[in-house]
Amino acid sequence: MSNLHRNVQETSSYDKFNAKSYLKKNYPMGPDGIPASHEDWMPWLLNNLKDTFAGGQLSGERLLDVGTGPAIHNLISAARYFPNITCAEYCQENREEVEKWVRGEEDAFDWAPFIKYVCGLEGQRDWEARQVSLRDAIQQVVFCDVRDENLLASLNGGPYDVVSSVFTLCGVAKDKADFDGIVSNVSHLVKPGGTLILVCDLEATHYSDGKASFPHTYLEASYIRQAVRNSGFTDVKDDVLLFKSIEGLNWDGTSYIYLTARKSLDTA
Ligand SMILES: C[S@@+](CC[C@H](N)C(=O)[O-])C[C@H]1O[C@@H](n2cnc3c(N)ncnc32)[C@H](O)[C@@H]1O
Repeated sequence: MSNLHRNVQETSSYDKFNAKSYLKKNYPMGPDGIPASHEDWMPWLLNNLKDTFAGGQLSGERLLDVGTGPAIHNLISAARYFPNITCAEYCQENREEVEKWVRGEEDAFDWAPFIKYVCGLEGQRDWEARQVSLRDAIQQVVFCDVRDENLLASLNGGPYDVVSSVFTLCGVAKDKADFDGIVSNVSHLVKPGGTLILVCDLEATHYSDGKASFPHTYLEASYIRQAVRNSGFTDVKDDVLLFKSIEGLNWDGTSYIYLTARKSLDTA
């Protein structure tokens, strides 16, 4: 085990995921209104999402986010164009955290600074209207297990126009073969011609939510691109953020990948 993880409890179960601790640790906002993140990975992510959705270039109405956790920042740009969003998440505590925010409860995490930041990126002024429309757009928060080979049957309404998954599939996979199976399960959720947005950390063996340490499958960018192609996707494009240093992080990877791909028209 690396030094980064010596003081945290090793676990392979997400049952111990601590939503509040995770949010506090991973989603601080800087005093300048820019998300405070190691080597600016959060602005990198939010900029990529802004570009992917810009101008309504992805068609459709229904978007599914898989492994939402307690966090909705990756849906801010999406909700401008997709009025029907489903958040699918394994842990009840995380689902409740998202539901609390959708209901506008007082002790919910405050995503307003992130919404303001994304509005700034998009040249939009009325962040409060965007907050309201994001809350309206998140129509369902449901259980999902990406290991389920009949994932689509466990969700309502058939395949989605867009499926996003941010920092989830790499963490769930036990090994490379398992990752292939999970990408295949998720691929069935995307309509032919629809879009997959996948964000993964690369070449990591562990990460921590601040209390528990979660094992990771070591995956290179090339492996992820091929797994996506093998699951019936084309037009695979990506942007890799390579970290100069990971000093102080509870994580031992090298980089993050932001990948988009289009589901082939001739696959189910
Ligand atoms: C690192 S967190 C990412 C959360 C969020 N997308 C983000 O960017 O902050 C990984 C998420 O995957 C969820 N997860 C774990 N196992 C899962 C499974 N089998 N199916 C679906 N989600 C799972 C966890 O509960 C957790 O919320």
